[in-house]
Amino acid sequence: MSQLEHKSQAWSALFTEPMSDLVKRYTASVDFDKRLWRADIQGSLAHAGMLAAQGIIPAQDLAAIQRGMAQIAQEIESGGFDWKLDLEDVHLNIEARLTQLVGDAGKRLHTGRSRNDQVATDVRLWLRGEIDLIAALLSDLQRALLDLAERNLDAILPGFTHLQVAQPVSFGHHMLAYVEMFARDAERMADVRRRVNRLPLGAAALAGTSYPLDRQAVAKALEMEGLCENSLDAVSDRDFAIEFSAAATLAMVHISRLSEELVLWSSQTFGFIRIADRFTTGSSIMPQKKNPDVPELARGKTGRVVGHLVGLVTLMKGQPLAYNKDNQEDKEPLFDTVDTLKDTLRIFAEMMAGITVNRDAMEAAARKGFATATDLADYLVKKGLPFRDAHEIVAHAVKSAQQQGCDLSELPLPALQQFHAAIGQDVYDVLSLRGSVEARRVVGGTATEQVRRAIAARRASLPAR
Ligand code: ARG
Repeated sequence: MSQLEHKSQAWSALFTEPMSDLVKRYTASVDFDKRLWRADIQGSLAHAGMLAAQGIIPAQDLAAIQRGMAQIAQEIESGGFDWKLDLEDVHLNIEARLTQLVGDAGKRLHTGRSRNDQVATDVRLWLRGEIDLIAALLSDLQRALLDLAERNLDAILPGFTHLQVAQPVSFGHHMLAYVEMFARDAERMADVRRRVNRLPLGAAALAGTSYPLDRQAVAKALEMEGLCENSLDAVSDRDFAIEFSAAATLAMVHISRLSEELVLWSSQTFGFIRIADRFTTGSSIMPQKKNPDVPELARGKTGRVVGHLVGLVTLMKGQPLAYNKDNQEDKEPLFDTVDTLKDTLRIFAEMMAGITVNRDAMEAAARKGFATATDLADYLVKKGLPFRDAHEIVAHAVKSAQQQGCDLSELPLPALQQFHAAIGQDVYDVLSLRGSVEARRVVGGTATEQVRRAIAARRASLPAR
């Protein structure tokens, strides 16, 4: 039996007593880091290829390593690989099996390498692939929102500030606000990817190695954009994981804000939208209930992604250079962040595609809160009044309408003229919801022509499917 397989007894001659089962379980990571197996094999093959090209290992050893790794990949894929807790992590498990399969060539693979630069490489390769999947999911969600916006371009709902009715906005415009958020998330992911996509291999344990490694060649083989140059930093840097978590956190925060609106809007009190039944659940006691579980859970899961970010930052803050075993704790938060974000984005793209909008309820709500009061003030400004005076006059008009229990647009012209003589029949154009919305033609405003333009621009900026 090889040294590696005897790890439960000792690492080497230096150790005089075996690890207890508890310590073994406490220090092992294989149960969770085995998901890095593809990246681990990919990294090993690139390293071995370079070792052979540099004449550090013979060509037949490279061939043996390639053959062994192909079999291991097939074993893992088919579920036939025997993962051993005694072998601690994904790296030692794969290396031990390789040696079992191809003998001494397997033992030469680790020349000029340490698990410290190996694990940093694996996590980066794996995360790069996940970022690409997330980028595609962010595009899908944006597309679903753009379709929903387009279908309901001219539905009008109250825009809120402080959750008080503020000004009418088009539903399409409201959806575009989220499209912008997810577009920024995609930008952030692309930016983080550049720093994820750098190669630690060659740093070895911490100081570099005395073998004549060609780090650039390995980077090229792995399609990485550069090297993590300083060897001490290369093995210990987890900035890339933290940055990714921060970007993922923001994406979840955006989802969470959307969720809050979906929960409110789908309630009986608002009744603005209907979420398709397949995304809701019933109550075990109240037969009339349809609960918006998916947005509620997304709001809740945002908390755990935020927690993972805080966990990762805290993990790093006290670590001296270079590698410390603390770093093994980066994986579970990172994995869970990726899983949570991907599932959430996927389910939201589907759910948003199935939303139906109740225009009547939205418009009725927009008519309730004097949403066009600003339009009346702007109308008076256009008649020559200073804005502050117009604001004051409209406040009186609102007060009077409130007392009569009607909207500003329902006050007869003579009543409105009591507040200012400059008010004419054309005031009713600006007091209507439609008039208010269409007046906001500034770039980024809620007028239909602007929303239509923004939808087209956003669509054009999305990558082809
Ligand atoms: N499982 C370890 C990790 O995730 C791999 C690196 C171990 N390095 C070491 N020097 N013990 O960080």
